[in-house]
Amino acid sequence: MWDRLLTDCHVATMEPAPGNPLGIIENGAIGIQDGRIVRVGTRTDLAGNRAREVLPLGGAWVTPGLIDCHTHLIFGGNRADEHAMRRAGASYQEIAEAGGGIASTVKRTREASEPELLASAAMRLDALMKGGVTTIEIKSGYGLDLEGELRLLRCAKALAASEAVRIVPTLLALHALPAEWKDRRIGYVSMVIDELLPAVADEQLAETVDAFCEDMAFSSDEVERLFKAAHARGFRVKLHAEQLSNQNGAALASKYNALSADHLEHLDEHGAAAMAEAGTVAVLLPGAFYALQEERKPPVQLLRDHKVPIAVATDCNPGTSPLLSPTLAMNMACTLFGLTPEEALAGMTINGAKALGIEEEIGTVAVGKAADLCVWRLESLAELGYWIGLPGPERRIYAGDDT
Ligand code: NIG
Ligand code: FE
Repeated sequence: MWDRLLTDCHVATMEPAPGNPLGIIENGAIGIQDGRIVRVGTRTDLAGNRAREVLPLGGAWVTPGLIDCHTHLIFGGNRADEHAMRRAGASYQEIAEAGGGIASTVKRTREASEPELLASAAMRLDALMKGGVTTIEIKSGYGLDLEGELRLLRCAKALAASEAVRIVPTLLALHALPAEWKDRRIGYVSMVIDELLPAVADEQLAETVDAFCEDMAFSSDEVERLFKAAHARGFRVKLHAEQLSNQNGAALASKYNALSADHLEHLDEHGAAAMAEAGTVAVLLPGAFYALQEERKPPVQLLRDHKVPIAVATDCNPGTSPLLSPTLAMNMACTLFGLTPEEALAGMTINGAKALGIEEEIGTVAVGKAADLCVWRLESLAELGYWIGLPGPERRIYAGDDT
């Protein structure tokens, strides 16, 4: 006897079948046992099965739970002042050079107590979860010293223990050069490699390492030093690449079999080909493009031509993307970048899972995977990319339970 049987619904399994790219099952049903999916098929296929709870969904759509595979969720304060400065004409780079930007959030984060950090992150997390997120990646990157970075990763772990959501932590120590290391760039990178990486590994605080490869952040040589060391310790890597300029970051990331290269507004053909070869996912972040009022869009057609899987994420952060809605990220990916609604949905389900390296566990509605699901009271799936500010699913099911 199963725990639950969801029935009278249309299921977008996101497991492509010939002529059915989203693996849609009309008049479908899903069996759940011990937090996992044990059967998916048509209502008739599953008719003979018994469950403690039978849940007729009245023709609603069921998708995998949404996966937000790129966020900087935990930080102190906010940067509403910079939002206003940008409206008055200052650029992101100019604000950073004047001591604002990431550095100002580092200051506010260092000043904040752990309960304060957890409380403000929980409010943002709550909004994303209401929007349908069942898995979220959270990067460090606002501590930028040994204890500060470890503290943010521990906060991510604490949130994972208290909230009904899967949290994937990522170490992002090469996010900006902290002021106290201003004249000692090499020293900072060495500290990250020699002290922080081993500490993160010992405490099992993260399995993935990210960096920001940009003129205003770290060079490709510095990133490569980190990636070599991270690889040697068994970490997977990913990279903020080609956001504001072309640093050949995507190709560098691909050389280290990166899970993903993210942003990619300035990606070229060489980078796209390298990503395809390495199976590196392209994570598009329309919230940052929108908030910075960028003009150059990521080369979506190039990614399609090279068959690079495309994910979409909120990039929720205080500076470039104070975005608290996964469905708005999907809408923006369609409206600003030209993704189809189907691509946007794949971007926040199966391809988000690939960008985190956990596609065996989540990302599609398939037997054996976690029963992380969203139930949408919509006429068609295309509405997910259509509404601007959709409040969220009617039901959000995490590990088999309504939350
Ligand atoms: O993904 N690009 C670098 N990191 C963030 C922005 C962080 C910040 O400005 O606080 C991003 O856009
Ligand atoms: Fe980011």
